[in-house]
Amino acid sequence: MTLANNAKNQNSRILSVGAYRPETVVPNSEIAPLIDSTDEWIQQRTGIQSRHRAKDDQSLVDMSVEAAQIAIKRANIAVDQIDSIIFATISYPYQAPSAATELAARLGANKAAAFDISAACAGFTYGVGMAADFIRGGSAKYVLVVGGEKLSDFTDPTDRATAFIFADGVGAVIIGPSESVGIGPTIWGSDVTNRDAITLEPSFLEFKNGKSVEDVGWPNIAQEGQRVFRWAVYEMAPVGRLAIEAAGITAADLAAFIPHQANERIIDSLVKSMGIPDSVEVARDIRTTGNTSSASIPLAMDQLLIDHPDLHGKNALLIGFGAGLVYAAQVVELPPKPN
Ligand code: UT7
Repeated sequence: MTLANNAKNQNSRILSVGAYRPETVVPNSEIAPLIDSTDEWIQQRTGIQSRHRAKDDQSLVDMSVEAAQIAIKRANIAVDQIDSIIFATISYPYQAPSAATELAARLGANKAAAFDISAACAGFTYGVGMAADFIRGGSAKYVLVVGGEKLSDFTDPTDRATAFIFADGVGAVIIGPSESVGIGPTIWGSDVTNRDAITLEPSFLEFKNGKSVEDVGWPNIAQEGQRVFRWAVYEMAPVGRLAIEAAGITAADLAAFIPHQANERIIDSLVKSMGIPDSVEVARDIRTTGNTSSASIPLAMDQLLIDHPDLHGKNALLIGFGAGLVYAAQVVELPPKPN
């Protein structure tokens, strides 16, 4: 007997975005002395002036409740209408239950399918692509996609290669049905030959096996900065171009470009090599937010819409890339102005 299929071929779009930035602002001057650096070097090499840091007793889920509640309110839906919660993170300190289920419990979304995805700085754009496919395939009507990190728990403040880059924050979007296509095809993939370029090690099993933090160190992010920089600059421009082409538009039809906020020099290089015209607003949230991995794109989206309210409802290219190395890009219609 043939089984039923629930595919609806339903279009979707981002209905709303919400952001949470921890209150504490950490300027470069606080970080530089620990890594024999200077405010000037950090700004010149990355564009970062300051970043936000969560309090010790403030969890990733605490922050994500704030961002998600804003997104839900702006989307004008009830919590129990959320069918699925996709939580992209690499800094949730529990394997189970997931950050998504903890968030669901705190929001009162008691029946939503809820799970975490580990795709590092591409996690949010992976999640957006998955949400669009869930809605197209009939598996969900409303999806909450969260990109959230408390990277300060997994960053060594004395590591010259990472201490000035990584930061805390959460961004969230509600994705729901739409009459027209509001999320273009996702161009995603990986380059696993470079999977040792960014790591979060050692494994917690080291501690089970009798080693101490003194023996093997705490699990912190490590990266070969130059290697990742070169990869991002050369490999991500074609991915962005493919996403634009797959959406059936040209770079001139974009109103905004919201790449992962890893380094402002990477952003500048992508703008140049992809031929993004001057008319396109480019997100540069990194200057005051640092690199928040999976949270960086929704945080930058929220800030861009605050700075340029005319961008509501216009087309934006998103590109996420990071540890794996993995990537995902899509053109989206930015959410409408909230009521
Ligand atoms: O989100 C995940 C994806 N991650 C990324 O996309 C990160 C991509 N990479 C980067 O953003 C950059 O590689 C960094 C910002 C991490 C580093 O910048 P860089 O321009 O690649 O620096 P470098 O490692 O090539 O070092 C250049 C110079 C060296 O000095 P000499 O040999 O030229 O005299 C380093 O010793 O800068 C020195 N240096 C520093 N100086 C002050 C390296 N780190 C520091 C530092 N402060 N923190």
